[in-house]
Amino acid sequence: MTKHYHYPIRIEDMLIKNRKVQYVIGAVLIACIIFKIFPLYRAAPPQRTYADFEQSLCKNDIQTRNLWNRKQCPDQGIITVMEGGRLGNQMWAYVTVWAYARTGKLKPYLPKCVKDQMALMFDQLTIPDFEGISHCPVKFEEQYVNKSNLYWSFTNKSIIIIPKFYRNPTLLLRWLDDILPEFRFNKKLTENAQKILTGFVRNLPAKSYTFIAVHVRRTDYIGYIARIYGDSAASRQFYVKAMKYYENKFPNCLFIFISDDPTWCYQEFGNRENVYVTSYGTEKLNSPAEDMAVMAACNHTIIDYGTFGEWGSILAGGETVYCNLKVNDYKGLAKWKNWTKMDN
Ligand SMILES: *[C@@H]1O[C@H](CO)[C@@H](O)[C@H](O)[C@H]1NC(C)=O
Ligand SMILES: *[C@@H]1O[C@H](CO)[C@@H](O)[C@H](O)[C@H]1NC(C)=O
Ligand SMILES: *[C@@H]1O[C@H](CO)[C@@H](O)[C@H](O)[C@H]1NC(C)=O
Ligand SMILES: *[C@@H]1O[C@H](CO)[C@@H](O)[C@H](O)[C@H]1NC(C)=O
Repeated sequence: MTKHYHYPIRIEDMLIKNRKVQYVIGAVLIACIIFKIFPLYRAAPPQRTYADFEQSLCKNDIQTRNLWNRKQCPDQGIITVMEGGRLGNQMWAYVTVWAYARTGKLKPYLPKCVKDQMALMFDQLTIPDFEGISHCPVKFEEQYVNKSNLYWSFTNKSIIIIPKFYRNPTLLLRWLDDILPEFRFNKKLTENAQKILTGFVRNLPAKSYTFIAVHVRRTDYIGYIARIYGDSAASRQFYVKAMKYYENKFPNCLFIFISDDPTWCYQEFGNRENVYVTSYGTEKLNSPAEDMAVMAACNHTIIDYGTFGEWGSILAGGETVYCNLKVNDYKGLAKWKNWTKMDN
């Protein structure tokens, strides 16, 4: 009979036990919440890697990264660059990273955001991005951004970041023959440039022509040099004089205009039969890469200002005529190559 009473008692027991269990679970939950808000100790922050560092150099998220291609971690300092500026600025940064890696003990790297853009046009670049060392630990405290060249040459275990818009012609001239092969346009851009030149010549009498690229930068620069230098933009007269200079010097000059304002170029010079204005009357402007490849394919150049035109001239080789304005600091190059200053 007594067995009959066991049953309800056991249920009661269980209810009490359950309530205890509920208290315990509740207490644990509350403890968890409290510890979440006021942790007794904090986990050490995860070790930062070159993947994080590379990201810190780029404006946008680096989307894809292959992690199977692991290389040895750098045992010396590295030299790299921050994303910034446009094509001409990036090329100057590349030169500096390349040259300091050669002269010092620093290993050169480019952040993926910069490397990918440049690799779209140049397919011989030797400086890698950070992919191979993205797993390696890095001390963010040891990064230096400054202009002390001396410091760049002798640093061992730190990270040197070339400042934005840094331009060093002395370095370029020292290594010119070694660096220029890095800036070899890919096949598509080279062929496209030749197609533009031969397309222009096709309608002209068969002669041996001298191609002169004329870089005309107007849209953003006119306001910029007025504001910063109090100078006026390169005038129509400057281009006329520069063209005359070449016509007196070389036979059968053809002038290939490359500009962010093809309409202006066409209005001013389009009626001459030895002038061709790229991107005029086309649906969209050529890309900067296409434009620079055309400049590089020409024999000589006329430039007004800016690092884009400057690089077009360097890659073209031959002679360069540039505009005598305060904004132009081409002195370093003028000494070695055939660079002629002409008044505006
Ligand atoms: C460059 O950075 C190093 C290390 O921080 C420092 O010792 C040096 O004075 C800096 N130079 C310039 C020109 O800022
Ligand atoms: C750099 O390393 C060399 C040896 O490789 C050493 O003699 C020199 O003192 C180091 N310099 C610095 C600044 O750590
Ligand atoms: C001038 O440029 C054209 C087009 O790129 C090229 O075919 C030609 O060989 C160049 N002439 C000289 C003398 O370099
Ligand atoms: C300057 O250009 C001419 C032909 O355009 C070339 O013969 C000469 O070697 C060049 N000189 C220098 C210093 O580059």
